Amino acid sequence: MDKQLLKAAYSPQDFRENAHQLVDILADHLTKTINGTSSKVINWEVPSEEYKFWNDFLLNGNPSDLNNEIIKRSIHLHHPNYMGHQISPVAPVTGLTSMLNAILNNGMGIYEMGMAPTAMERVVIEQLCKEIGYDKKANGFLTSGGTLANLTALLSARKKIAQNDIWEKGHSDKLAIMVSEEAHYCIDRAARIMGLGEKGIVKIPVDKNYALNTKLLEDAYNKTIYEGYEVIALVGSAPSTATGIYDDLDILGNFALKKGIWFHIDAAHGGGAIFSSKYKSLLKGMQKADSIVIDGHKMMMMPSITTALLFKEGIDSHNTFRQKADYLLQESMEEDWYNLAKRTFECTKYMMSLHWYTLLKIYGKDIFDEFVTTLYDLGQRFGKILEYDTNFELAVKPMSNILCFRFIEKDSDLPILNKINSGIRQKLLEEGEFYIVQTKIKGIIYLRATIMNPFTTEEHFLALLKRIRGMANPMIK
Ligand SMILES: Cc1ncc(COP(=O)(O)O)c(C=O)c1O
Repeated sequence: MDKQLLKAAYSPQDFRENAHQLVDILADHLTKTINGTSSKVINWEVPSEEYKFWNDFLLNGNPSDLNNEIIKRSIHLHHPNYMGHQISPVAPVTGLTSMLNAILNNGMGIYEMGMAPTAMERVVIEQLCKEIGYDKKANGFLTSGGTLANLTALLSARKKIAQNDIWEKGHSDKLAIMVSEEAHYCIDRAARIMGLGEKGIVKIPVDKNYALNTKLLEDAYNKTIYEGYEVIALVGSAPSTATGIYDDLDILGNFALKKGIWFHIDAAHGGGAIFSSKYKSLLKGMQKADSIVIDGHKMMMMPSITTALLFKEGIDSHNTFRQKADYLLQESMEEDWYNLAKRTFECTKYMMSLHWYTLLKIYGKDIFDEFVTTLYDLGQRFGKILEYDTNFELAVKPMSNILCFRFIEKDSDLPILNKINSGIRQKLLEEGEFYIVQTKIKGIIYLRATIMNPFTTEEHFLALLKRIRGMANPMIK
């Protein structure tokens, strides 16, 4: 075997040429999308046709077209008309840290498999803990996404709060967590993975502003205890996914403290507001939480997928997966901060800290203030436009950059309006000039926009509403 393929695959010269070419292609792509000069956010194709294309390309496609085809057939988050799901249009420098990570490919599980990124991760975590208002006892780590981080936090809660050492003995105990009915579905899923079952997830209704109704907490707690459950945790959303409304973290924190249960905050979307001098107050009381999740790939300009899981008592982060109850030994925490796999779900994880650290090093923490504040301000602005437009109705006054609204027509009833609004969303998707999503709240279908792009302006909002009106009018009989 002459190993020609291996030589080609590992050729530094080929890599240099291809990488330069790709960087040029991506820089052109960014220019067109950020300025909004490319006409479409998405070139929509149905799944079966997309599959057919790629199946055929593998056999007949020209390799030199591959990158351009991938770009053409992907959704463009940097376009100002992208107002869809909560994923960052990344700061381009994190494309470079991604490449650094991919080539170095340090596995991070133990210290020597990632010395620099392990130490950088500690620096980043310390900075986040400081911004939250935690003291020196706090600690945490980076992990693969909000879903996994929420599950990890709830496992930590169970380890600390449940009477029985379930990690050692297994369980048939009746455990419960309390959470808003509007929380992200991954909390429900985490609880089920933990064996809590349907009745172990106590969903507290929201108030008229879609925040967890704190007036119902005491009764819900008492009822759960009366039914023989041990409540281990209360979860707050900051904000909840569908509506973008922050729960009252201060009240939730006090309640959890009073009951001696774990307080967890899912700030996957809005935790980045710790850096915003204008919007930080939305997170009032967050330092009372035993654990907090913040996604880097949502409101912090980083590529998927990187999440910070932070613990008020750092030792709790060392206990989640500990086999033996030797966790009162403080020195083990110092000993083990650098062997990250002992605390994370992952054995191998990518060098996530490169993104966080590089953004902090190059732009300073004010970059996060500018990003979050700009997007939340845009959310407020779009909210005002919708409030004063008689063709539209907001589900709730926005608190962040997430807005739920619908087209209304005064003589149409709910089923018709639901049909019109989901029709609008489908047409927008197929047309590809704008990208927004839809959600259903209390039986009502809303269009849902998350302003993720700091280069979106009022003109883009007005153009979107004009297009929606244009689509809706022919649907009204
Ligand atoms: C509030 C909230 N929590 C958790 C998640 C899940 O995070 P991830 O997609 O990083 O797993 C989301 C995703 O939208 C979210 O909005």
